[in-house]
Amino acid sequence: MTNLTIKRDELTADEFITLWKTVWDGAPAYDQTRLALEHTLFRVSVFDDDKIVAMARVIGDMGLNYYIKDVVVRPEYQKKGIGRTLINEILRFVKENGVVGTDIFVELCAVPDKIPFYEKLGFKSNEAQRLFLFQRAE
Ligand SMILES: CC(C)(COP(=O)(O)OP(=O)(O)OC[C@H]1O[C@@H](n2cnc3c(N)ncnc32)[C@H](O)[C@@H]1OP(=O)(O)O)[C@@H](O)C(=O)NCCC(=O)NCCS
Repeated sequence: MTNLTIKRDELTADEFITLWKTVWDGAPAYDQTRLALEHTLFRVSVFDDDKIVAMARVIGDMGLNYYIKDVVVRPEYQKKGIGRTLINEILRFVKENGVVGTDIFVELCAVPDKIPFYEKLGFKSNEAQRLFLFQRAE
């Protein structure tokens, strides 16, 4: 992590979309992304000089539920411990902001080949499956 800078709650919609495109197709719309970031509990991003190389965020209600979203490390920066740093930053946020003395449910959705990464960080899977649909906004 030498020469890399961690930023907290600074991730912008442009940075989000730029980084998304390095790993996935079909980047989200700018307006959706801007609103999503505005309603995010905590954002973490990592920069190599002025280039964004990693991001993650957590959404939720601050009390009972925290949900980790959009964990991305730019391909050429993967397997250097940056993903672990992102998750640790989020877990620190939960630890410092949750109701003192309670155990807080932190969850996420992972594709099968990323499950070992999260297991290394202490996450476990259960039998629940993700259900979804797309609702057109009018
Ligand atoms: C998943 C991702 C965030 C991991 O980031 P990373 O910076 O490469 O991870 P780290 O280097 O911090 O890895 C931490 C540990 O997990 C392991 N690990 C990372 N990715 C792994 C994988 N796909 N399978 C198995 N182990 C993995 C590392 O080897 C390391 O193990 P170690 O501590 O024993 O050395 C990154 O691969 C990524 O951005 N992928 C594309 C986007 C994506 O799929 N995001 C996740 C959505 S669910």
